[in-house]
Amino acid sequence: MSETKKCSLILALDVETREEAFAMLDRLGDSLEWVKIGLQLFTAYGPDFVREIADKGYKVFLDLKLYDIPNTVAKAVQSISTLPVQLLTLHASGGGEMLEWANKARADYAPNLDLLAVTVLTSMNEAQLHSLNIKASTEAQVIHLANLSLNAGIQGLVCSSLELNPLRARFGQNPIIVTPGIRPAGSSADEQKRIMTPHAAACAGSSYIVVGRPILKADDPAAAAKAIQAELV
Ligand code: C5P
Repeated sequence: MSETKKCSLILALDVETREEAFAMLDRLGDSLEWVKIGLQLFTAYGPDFVREIADKGYKVFLDLKLYDIPNTVAKAVQSISTLPVQLLTLHASGGGEMLEWANKARADYAPNLDLLAVTVLTSMNEAQLHSLNIKASTEAQVIHLANLSLNAGIQGLVCSSLELNPLRARFGQNPIIVTPGIRPAGSSADEQKRIMTPHAAACAGSSYIVVGRPILKADDPAAAAKAIQAELV
């Protein structure tokens, strides 16, 4: 445990409008380094919004969970290479060829970008996997897709914090692993079911924790962000 690398906080900027987003960032001040922009704000405001966030000094995790034929995903990575984005997600279940093409586009156009493969969505349970004709357990499927992704050259994974131990045991300390579903002790779980505290996730080998509502809904978001960061060191 003492060998674990530094774990950083990423704010999931899950608000409805650009105005709300900037008001929240103003309240957070300099308590934060990373912002995750998801589908909601990206589809509403597009690349300009990404540039605006980066212009304010934040590192950007663009969570678009790309999934399409290899050529289309590679072209999307090429387009995103023109944006100030440090982390970008795609679905591991798009397959090895899609992952390889995406990573080739990354290497050619955005060598400083890290791609993160989403294995099994935390909203999926085993019954839902079975409904897709996937007979494996959730953990076996996560390991399988993680292996596929890392063999394709992808830099990291997004997974539930409860999958950190088996993934680190199998793949070592090198892959970036990003974990949502984080809740400080005593805060509401909301609808998240498989949760961990920031400290426990950092100890289990998370590279980045993604936290939304515990910060966004706090009376003092900056204090909430700082308290979470204090748990990571
Ligand atoms: O508010 P909360 O901390 O639950 O937000 C978690 C963030 O992480 C949300 O943006 C959510 O979409 C994202 N996420 C997740 N589970 C995944 C992948 C992403 O909760 N498997």
